[in-house]
Amino acid sequence: MDNAKPSPGDVTDRNLALELVRVTEAAALAASKWIGIGKKNEADGAAVEAMRKAFDSVQISGTVVIGEGEMDEAPMLFIGEKVGAGGPMMDIAVDPLEGTTLTSKGGPNAIATVALAEHGNFLHAPDIYMDKIAVGGGLPAGVINLDDSVATNLRNLARAKKCEVSDLMACILDRDRHKELIAKTREAGARITLISDGDVAGVIATTQPESLIDIYLGSGGAPEGVLAAAALRCIGGQMQGRLMYEEESQRERVRQMGHADPNRCFTCEEMAKGDVMFAATGVTTGAMLRGVRRFSGGAVTHSVVMRSRSGTVRYIEGHHNFAQKTWWEAP
Ligand code: FBP
Repeated sequence: MDNAKPSPGDVTDRNLALELVRVTEAAALAASKWIGIGKKNEADGAAVEAMRKAFDSVQISGTVVIGEGEMDEAPMLFIGEKVGAGGPMMDIAVDPLEGTTLTSKGGPNAIATVALAEHGNFLHAPDIYMDKIAVGGGLPAGVINLDDSVATNLRNLARAKKCEVSDLMACILDRDRHKELIAKTREAGARITLISDGDVAGVIATTQPESLIDIYLGSGGAPEGVLAAAALRCIGGQMQGRLMYEEESQRERVRQMGHADPNRCFTCEEMAKGDVMFAATGVTTGAMLRGVRRFSGGAVTHSVVMRSRSGTVRYIEGHHNFAQKTWWEAP
């Protein structure tokens, strides 16, 4: 498939995949200095700064469409910011440190992540909540539906997987707002892995049989939703998301971003269209990636890079010698 003829919407330059990994490696290395230190903002700031600088050497004319927030609230990687050294016009979704609290507490599954698509192919979303449902690949289309009840979704998934609902493991963020969802999931007979943070990893876990997660349910960040959709486009799986509003100004902002119907449910393919690349580097160890292992003068990173057009998923182990890095690469 890697030789397939590019079609409109293709990210045509394969080398970009490796460039993306350098960007997530830089963010993860910078954040790793703060693992377990109890300072989540410092960890996030270090990751953002390193990722921003790493983009300067990537051969794209990039626009951040999923970023650290609006221009007036984020100094770097804000929505609308231009990044890259020049080249094809690309839209970029970033989360330099997905799991700031996980990092500060030394918990699992913190990652540095980036996705890239041709201009206009990512859902534009501000930093509000999104209701999400996701399952891994190889299942009949339409097996999940955000508008169906939890019990119906679990029953349909169990039927498709030829198992009992009681065999299913759902992954849900451990939040007060999910009390009812948690109760209904258990009432339906399924088991739950409650996670404290990190729903990009939670959604991706549905695609990895060894994670033992069958379905992701519940609300989390909309930016994280788009990043997870980009990953699922590459690795396979189904996902739906609907933006959620805590105040009217958020709905207005979403309209300004070009959504005629701010309440509609988006599929994975609508959140991340065309040829998409997704890269992530582990900050702390999780189901998909090992965390940064630092030692005197260097570190080892573990990353994944995927592309939707080819379906290729590559794991990359990076051995970094800080003495040979430029100042911003040597955290
Ligand atoms: P941060 O890295 O920005 O702290 O996000 C972590 C996270 O758990 C995301 O994975 C998730 O989408 C979001 O926070 C959920 O938000 P909240 O903590 O408000 O429930």
